[in-house]
Amino acid sequence: MAVTKLPEEVTLQPETTAFLSSGPKKLLIGGEWVSAASGETFETVNPATGEVLMEAAAAGEADVDAAAHAAREAFISGPWSQMNGYQRADLLWRLAELIDQHADELAELETLDNGKPLKISRRVDIPQAAKHLKYYAGWANKIEGSTIPVSFPNNLVYTVREPVGVVGAIIPWNFPLLMATWKLAPALAAGNTVILKPAEQTPLTALRLGELIAEAGFPPGVINILTGFGVPAGSAITAHMGIDKVAFTGSTAVGRRIMEAAATSNLKRVSLELGGKSPNIIFADADMAGAVRGANWAIFSNAGQECVAGSRLFIERPVFDEVLDGLVAQSERVRVGNGFTNANMGPIISEKQLSNILGYLETDSDNIEIVTGGERLTGELAEGYFLPPTIVTHDNDSLTIVNEEVFGPVVTVTAFDEWEEIVERANLTNYGLAAGIWTRDIGKAHRLAHAIKAGTVWINQYGMIDAPAPFGGFKQSGHGREMGKDALDLYTETKTVWVSLG
Ligand code: NAI
Ligand code: MG
Repeated sequence: MAVTKLPEEVTLQPETTAFLSSGPKKLLIGGEWVSAASGETFETVNPATGEVLMEAAAAGEADVDAAAHAAREAFISGPWSQMNGYQRADLLWRLAELIDQHADELAELETLDNGKPLKISRRVDIPQAAKHLKYYAGWANKIEGSTIPVSFPNNLVYTVREPVGVVGAIIPWNFPLLMATWKLAPALAAGNTVILKPAEQTPLTALRLGELIAEAGFPPGVINILTGFGVPAGSAITAHMGIDKVAFTGSTAVGRRIMEAAATSNLKRVSLELGGKSPNIIFADADMAGAVRGANWAIFSNAGQECVAGSRLFIERPVFDEVLDGLVAQSERVRVGNGFTNANMGPIISEKQLSNILGYLETDSDNIEIVTGGERLTGELAEGYFLPPTIVTHDNDSLTIVNEEVFGPVVTVTAFDEWEEIVERANLTNYGLAAGIWTRDIGKAHRLAHAIKAGTVWINQYGMIDAPAPFGGFKQSGHGREMGKDALDLYTETKTVWVSLG
């Protein structure tokens, strides 16, 4: 299908155009591309223009069942089940190289489907996805057990780490290809087989990845890709008796449902990476220019559609006006627009998400002051779902907008005075994903990092994430740690073997 509303000077890669005109796309089950059993399809749109990009198959219960069987067979009897860690490493590395080779095209598909600036897709999303696969390729032949000294004589006790089995991976739309690799890489390194369900808003790069997976040489059934909706596709994965584990990134509400489904089915293992309401704290002794730039980046990167978004900004009172004025000035220089222009902030993923965000501003309108932004952009951008950087001030931590994840370019800003106060207010949230601290006092920075209940704390920077560094949430931000060596725990079972030495 033709992509008609690109800015005039943009020409897509021929591969991108070829991919877009190859729809409607099918499901990848057992190495074959097949239509949904129901024959149903859905449309994915470009959030910058509202235009339909492609149709994809809408998976249902029967397709999940077929994928679960294909994945089981690949796990127990196919060539994958016989491969050693070196062979799995080779396949992961080859897939990473294919992603690098097709980076321009994948970046264009990501920007069309999600809306984010092309230069971000090209510099961040796609190369990070490849790096993630390479990092776990390195682990595939290093998954070890240990020998255990026990109190009984004449016993040899050792552990081995075995793959969990069939893994369901359900991912969101904010970093589509990257989130796919966050799940696939450690799962495959450990020897599992996977059913991947991309978000219904952004199926394109997962589908293209499916083609590259075949090219890389993964045996049939090792990776199955089911496009479709949360219900019925995602929910059927979580309820299936033949799926051993679900790895999920998305909303806390759905995370809760996934645990319920696990509890009432086969007690499948669950790892959850959910929302956040992360405090970003600027002390009066911080490097002001860096702190202001960092606060801007913390909330407006990816149009605020990030689980780690620094959405609660706390500024020590003596520098409150200086930081706020600096942030407003910085935010007003953010260029919002179609990701194929020189914009550095794209649209909100959907009309529904945009209206959710505006709803938060409406609900608390009597108790907040909107300093800048707050209204949907019209004119040339009217067909897309654009909201400019939005900064609101408040002095009431109990407001809905201060407690719930807005998941958009909206930061709530407030002043603080005392140490005990900031420790308490930073932790006054059901979430615990991340936090930022800005100060030149290194002792104070570490004390606060220890006092904050969050899975990741950044000091004098914000948003750094890399494959080797564990990532995940305290409290209602999730269960388990992805990334780094820790992620291998999510995708392996420990087996203890007792040997009598006679
Ligand atoms: P969501 O949690 O509904 O969607 C995430 C994934 O879960 C998608 O693949 C979706 O199809 C699937 N899903 C939905 N319902 C399901 C169910 N009952 N069983 C199994 N899978 C299901 O998130 P949504 O609606 O796209 O966004 C809503 C809010 O979620 C956002 O405003 C934000 O607060 C949060 N969110 C957090 C993300 C994160 O990175 N932690 C990413 C995306 C959303
Ligand atoms: Mg889309």
